Amino acid sequence: MEGILISHITIQERIRAMCGQIAEDYKDKDLYALVVLKGAIPFFTELLFNSNMTLPFEYGPIKVSSYEGTKSKTLRVEQFDFNDVTGKDVLLVEDILDTGNTLSHLLQPLQQSASSVRTAVLLDKPERREKPINADYIGFTIPNVFVVGYGMDFNNRFRYLQHIGVLKKSMYEK
Ligand code: IMP
Ligand code: MG
Repeated sequence: MEGILISHITIQERIRAMCGQIAEDYKDKDLYALVVLKGAIPFFTELLFNSNMTLPFEYGPIKVSSYEGTKSKTLRVEQFDFNDVTGKDVLLVEDILDTGNTLSHLLQPLQQSASSVRTAVLLDKPERREKPINADYIGFTIPNVFVVGYGMDFNNRFRYLQHIGVLKKSMYEK
């Protein structure tokens, strides 16, 4: 690990503020929080425990897998019935908005069935964007570094860290 980028306490304080904003924005809506597995689990859990149950919202998981082809990566949504969110005000909860490919892949079918769709991301790396997409709720905007912890992984490791750390370049560059 190169070092800590965002401490656990800073993450918790920021999520508490985001939760207040979301609760205010959704007070007259039929909120369905759609949690993108696996990275968004800690972020969503913290959001959930700060919600004070003022909103009787629903939540559920969605998983996107990517297949590395010879030229490009193909994204596929696993085991999700888009009818489940028909008429709901969907808030897509994701760990990090990077190239934007994952969120744009999910937004299109969701917008067809849901009554409204917004996105909440813990981290945003705008420098890496390939798709013209921005999140509605952003925890922290960070530079183009590879981070792990608080749900985010490197080869499925380090998700359990309470803080967000920067991974040494030597771990992924040869
Ligand atoms: P996008 O489709 O490129 O926007 O990327 C979305 C996914 O890439 C995220 O949900 C993460 O799983 C992964 N990702 C992007 N940047 C990082 C990082 O710095 N650390 C860990 N995972 C990342
Ligand atoms: Mg992810």
